[in-house]
Amino acid sequence: MPDNTAKPEHPQPLSEATAAAVNAVYQLYDPPLWLVTAAESPAPGSRRGGCIATFVARAAIVRDMPRMVAGIARHHHTWRMIEASRCFAVYLLPESALDLVWRFGLDTGKDVDKLAGLPDVRTPLGNPRVDGPIAWLDCRVENAMSTGDRSIYLAEVNGGGVLDDTTAPLTAGRLTELAPADKRAELDRLYARDGGIDADAIRAWRAAHDTR
Ligand SMILES: Cc1cc2nc3c(=O)[nH]c(=O)nc-3n(C[C@H](O)[C@H](O)[C@H](O)COP(=O)(O)O)c2cc1C
Repeated sequence: MPDNTAKPEHPQPLSEATAAAVNAVYQLYDPPLWLVTAAESPAPGSRRGGCIATFVARAAIVRDMPRMVAGIARHHHTWRMIEASRCFAVYLLPESALDLVWRFGLDTGKDVDKLAGLPDVRTPLGNPRVDGPIAWLDCRVENAMSTGDRSIYLAEVNGGGVLDDTTAPLTAGRLTELAPADKRAELDRLYARDGGIDADAIRAWRAAHDTR
């Protein structure tokens, strides 16, 4: 007898042609790169962390009630810091700050202290500050949604400012153009590795949440 109780994976993975068409849509826009920093607590000397993210966006149009959303992978050290403090800061970077991309976007804070050697300077909410960004926003988490691979944080913005209004923010597309060959290869390797981790996490999440 066939097992009629076995459910097919849902939604079904896309065909290669459809996946390529979807990816072509993503290539039509070029998101800015953000540096996201967070600490275990606001206390000076507490553990710090940070990563590079494109999944960061304005989430409210109300002038005196600004909000942001940020999607941070649940296997990142930065995720652990945000979970602990429920706060994070986001920074826009100039093209000249590629060193910050390599410092925060390649390794994990689970293995190395990415802020080693940098003074322990904090935002009013206790998030790590670093030299080099052109703008910053200080965020406190209001809500979070797990998507399996990420936590999508909705955060109120408590403060921030423009530090350099003469420079355009670094984007993901410009990073690809500016990256030397060895860094480009490393970015590609990490993107493929994280894609595999995220696919497993999304599959497990979908198995546990029937979204039909
Ligand atoms: C261009 C670029 C965009 C990225 N976007 C995101 C993102 O939106 N969300 C995320 O969780 N990680 C993103 N990453 C990956 C993290 O920055 C990277 O894995 C980092 O090393 C994680 O560090 P952590 O474990 O110390 O937090 C991006 C990396 C790069 C280079």
